[in-house]
Amino acid sequence: MNTPAHLQVLGICGSLRQKSYNMAALRTAGELMPPGLKLNITGIGELPIYNFDVQEKGFPAPATKLRDEILAADALLFASPEYNWSVGAPLKNAIDWMSRFQPQPFNNKPAALFSATGGPVGGARGQYDLRRILSGLGVHWLMKPEVFIGMSASKFADGKLTDETTRKFLTDQMVAFEDWIKRMKRAFA
Ligand SMILES: Cc1cc2nc3c(=O)[nH]c(=O)nc-3n(C[C@H](O)[C@H](O)[C@H](O)COP(=O)(O)O)c2cc1C
Repeated sequence: MNTPAHLQVLGICGSLRQKSYNMAALRTAGELMPPGLKLNITGIGELPIYNFDVQEKGFPAPATKLRDEILAADALLFASPEYNWSVGAPLKNAIDWMSRFQPQPFNNKPAALFSATGGPVGGARGQYDLRRILSGLGVHWLMKPEVFIGMSASKFADGKLTDETTRKFLTDQMVAFEDWIKRMKRAFA
C-alpha cells in the first residue's frame, strides 16, 4: 500500500529480457527495502530508438510517461546488465530520450544502482559508465555500498534472487539508499 510516509522509488531495469536476472534482482530489492521505501518498477521497452526527427514531431507517449514517472519519484533505482563493457542500448536509449526534456527530469534525483551479469565481473564497467552518464544529467548517486552480482545463473532460481550473501548486500544497499534519499531531500528542500 502506498502512503505519504513512503518515499517513492522508481525502478528502471536495463534489460528487456523476459527472464532477466536484473529484473529479478530489482523485484527482490523492492522486497528487501526498509519499510520507509516503496518500489514501483517502470518499463523502457516501448520507447522508439531515439531520433531527433521523431522528437521534432512531438515526444512519443512512452517518453512523456517515463518523464512524468521520474519527476514524480523521490528517487531512482537502476538495475542493468553490462553490454560490451558499457551501458546496454535500451537503457542508454531511455536516457537519451529523457535528456531532451526541459526541465531535466534527472536533475537532483537521488539514485542507486546495481547490476547482474552472467560472468564473474558483475557489471562494474557498465555501472561506472552509467554513473558518469547520469551524473552529467544531475543525478546524485549513492556511492556505497556497491553491489555487483556476478555468476548470476548460480544465484537466481525461478525468477528470484536466492543467494543469501547477495540478498544481504542488497539489503544493506537499500538501508543506505533510504538514508541517502532523506539526506538529498533535505539538501534540495
Ligand atoms: C549484447 C550483449 C553483450 C553482453 N556484454 C557483456 C559484458 O560486457 N559483460 C558481461 O559481464 N556480460 C555481458 N553480457 C552477458 C550478460 O551479462 C548476461 O546476458 C546477463 O544475463 C544479462 O542480464 P539480464 O539477465 O538482466 O538480461 C552480454 C550480453 C549481451 C546480450
